[in-house]
Amino acid sequence: MEKTQRAHGRSVGDKDFVRVRRALPADLDDLIALENASFSSDRLSPRQWKHHLGSDRASILLVERQGRTGAAAVLFFRKGSPLARLYSLAVAAELRGRGIGEVLLEACEGEAAGCGCTQMRLEVRSDNLAAQRLYARRGYRLFASRPGYYEDGATALCYEKML
Ligand SMILES: CC(C)(COP(=O)(O)OP(=O)(O)OC[C@H]1O[C@@H](n2cnc3c(N)ncnc32)[C@H](O)[C@@H]1OP(=O)(O)O)[C@@H](O)C(=O)NCCC(=O)NCCS
Repeated sequence: MEKTQRAHGRSVGDKDFVRVRRALPADLDDLIALENASFSSDRLSPRQWKHHLGSDRASILLVERQGRTGAAAVLFFRKGSPLARLYSLAVAAELRGRGIGEVLLEACEGEAAGCGCTQMRLEVRSDNLAAQRLYARRGYRLFASRPGYYEDGATALCYEKML
């Protein structure tokens, strides 16, 4: 899985081209740094990252822009289940608002469909409006909410999409 495409950005130029690929063990430090910068709680431990990078029940997709890691997403699969779970999606702060999250989300959907899944599910904090808008724009439907889901007590909104 690897493709290069232009983010639906607000400006045009080489800097808008991004490459989406599967993450490799050598990307571990970049993935941890991006997660630490993007989330203040509910983070994966380095040990979990290592495990998921080598697991056939996880796909970690990474966006490179100008040769640097700009975004990443973690997908989980269960044996025999048509459901894929988007566990995490993060774009580097300086690259947000250029459609890179949408490019990555689309790639995640393609990855899940390629693994035989017919449905994607995800949770998002109820106070994360940028992410909720992104999911709504790509056709995700709110189907449940889970109060107290996150470590700090925040509510999770559960979204799903048929692939
Ligand atoms: C949520 C996230 C992945 C969206 O990625 P993105 O590449 O910014 O996505 P988009 O460019 O499609 O923008 C999504 C929305 O946020 C707005 N936005 C977010 N950050 C912005 C910024 N720094 N500057 C301008 N707009 C921004 C966009 O304008 C857009 O709003 P719209 O739908 O009303 O147009 C990204 O903001 C992020 O990584 N956040 C921190 C981690 C996180 O919350 N992940 C989601 C967990 S479920």
